[in-house]
Amino acid sequence: LYYVEARPEITDGEYDALYRALLAAEKLHPDWVTPDSPSQRVSEQPLGGFRTVRHSVPMLSIDNGYSPDEWREFDARVRKSLDVEAVDYVVELKIDGVAIVLRYDDGQFAIGITRGDGTVGDDVTQNLRTLKGLPLTLGEGAPKGTLEVRGEVYLERAQFDAINAERAAQGEALYANPRNLTAGSLKTLDAREVSRRELSYFAYAVADPPGFGVSTQHEVLARLQSLGLRVNRHARRVHGVEGVEQEIERWSKGRGQLGYDTDGLVIKVDDLGQQAVLGATSKSPRWALAYKFETESAVTRLLDIRVQVGRTGAV
Ligand code: IVH
Repeated sequence: LYYVEARPEITDGEYDALYRALLAAEKLHPDWVTPDSPSQRVSEQPLGGFRTVRHSVPMLSIDNGYSPDEWREFDARVRKSLDVEAVDYVVELKIDGVAIVLRYDDGQFAIGITRGDGTVGDDVTQNLRTLKGLPLTLGEGAPKGTLEVRGEVYLERAQFDAINAERAAQGEALYANPRNLTAGSLKTLDAREVSRRELSYFAYAVADPPGFGVSTQHEVLARLQSLGLRVNRHARRVHGVEGVEQEIERWSKGRGQLGYDTDGLVIKVDDLGQQAVLGATSKSPRWALAYKFETESAVTRLLDIRVQVGRTGAV
């Protein structure tokens, strides 16, 4: 309730007291310790390196759009392929973090993997277990077998600023931005250090939507949330071009107030059947567009080009 839904029913003091009681009980009865106990989130054993894991479904990227015109072209293509007048879309914030996969087996968190090259990623389970809002056991109705959840790990602005303030006080070099610090943290071999960073995450997709028992993207989000995963509350289902444009308008101005960084919106065709009809190219699905906010592109001035001629004459 505290980390996922932001509506705690007990005070921090009451929580701490319960946690201490749990630790005391587990000390007396080591056989009571379960893998999903809150006491088991942070591994005391640093890793020697990360093992690589193959993704069950390749992690594609999404095509970018940078202007209202590009968005309208996308919508026109989608309508033409589907032969419909208007499409229902889900508009989500594009979280500026690091993509991850969370694999659950029979409702138990089993492995967490980075995107890597899209085909194989690093096993960062030990680090992802430290995410406080990450359920180690999914809620009621969790699917049997393997469920692969996709999402984004990120760092809240306030947390990033606090970490940098501490570094400044110790005369250490500052981190460039929350995204870089998040990426660096996930590559850390010592989970105790990762735990101190207090990373956050949002879940937004599953690898195999038909196997998830839902027929739309907005149901994917609702079901992820009902299983106990953190889902961004700003996702909206809208109808047609105008609906999406209202969201673009809203977030072009409003994103400064969020407390975490976004670099755009992800616009997804809501109906999973329609998504399947649209399919994907080898690089990206045809049913999604990453709409980048305007300020993300800027004019740069090329100052100089220096050409070097190598030993073999190659320039
Ligand atoms: S959907 C095949 N939803 O943006 C589509 N991605 O440029 C799967 N991202 O690699 C991704 N927020 O790391 C999706 N609400 C969101 C997202 C999101 C951030 C990232 C993700 C992806 C990249 C695409």
